[in-house]
Amino acid sequence: MVNKTLVAFVSKGGATKEASEIIADILKEKYKFTVDLVDLKKHSPNLEEYDNIVIGAGVRVGKVYGKALKFLKQDFGDRKVAFFVCSGDAGDPEKYEEACTKYIIGVLANYPHVKTVATEAFGGRMKMLGKTMFDKFDPAKIRTWAENLGSKLT
Ligand SMILES: Cc1cc2nc3c(=O)[nH]c(=O)nc-3n(C[C@H](O)[C@H](O)[C@H](O)COP(=O)(O)O)c2cc1C
Repeated sequence: MVNKTLVAFVSKGGATKEASEIIADILKEKYKFTVDLVDLKKHSPNLEEYDNIVIGAGVRVGKVYGKALKFLKQDFGDRKVAFFVCSGDAGDPEKYEEACTKYIIGVLANYPHVKTVATEAFGGRMKMLGKTMFDKFDPAKIRTWAENLGSKLT
C-alpha cells in the first residue's frame, strides 16, 4: 500500500522549511512513502489525499506561526498526525523543556481534537542583515526524529 504523507510547513527564516525537507526526504528514501512537501504560506492542501500529516512551524515573539495554528483547526479524522516546531529556545539545552511546554504542549492543548503520534521542538537559526545571529539548527536531530517517525506512520 502506498503511504501518502503530507509534510506541511510554515517558515519565515528558512529553518522549518529545511527541517521539513529533511523529514520528507527520509520518509521517501527510507520508508518509500509518497510525500508532498507543501508551504502553507502558498498552498492549502486537501487532506482527503493523505494517510499521514506532518506539520512544522517556526516560532517568533513567543508564538508559533499563525498559518500553522489555523491549519491545526482542521478535522484530521483518523489520519496520523505529527507536529514539530523550530525555535531559538528549543536549541538551547537550558530552555529546551520550556520551549516544548510552551510551543508543543501548550499549543496542542488548544486543539484537543488533534491526536499526535510524535512531536518535537528543534533549534532554529536567526539571520539579520545577512549576518547569522545564532545557528542552533541540528540536522542530525531532525534526521533521527524522522527515522523514528516513519515507523510510527506505517
Ligand atoms: C523576530 C524574531 C523573533 C523571535 N522570537 C523567538 C521567540 O520568542 N522564541 C524562540 O524560541 N525563538 C524566537 N526566534 C527564533 C526563531 O524561532 C528561529 O529564527 C526559527 O528558525 C524560526 O523558524 P523559521 O526559520 O522557519 O522561520 C525569533 C526570531 C526572530 C527573527
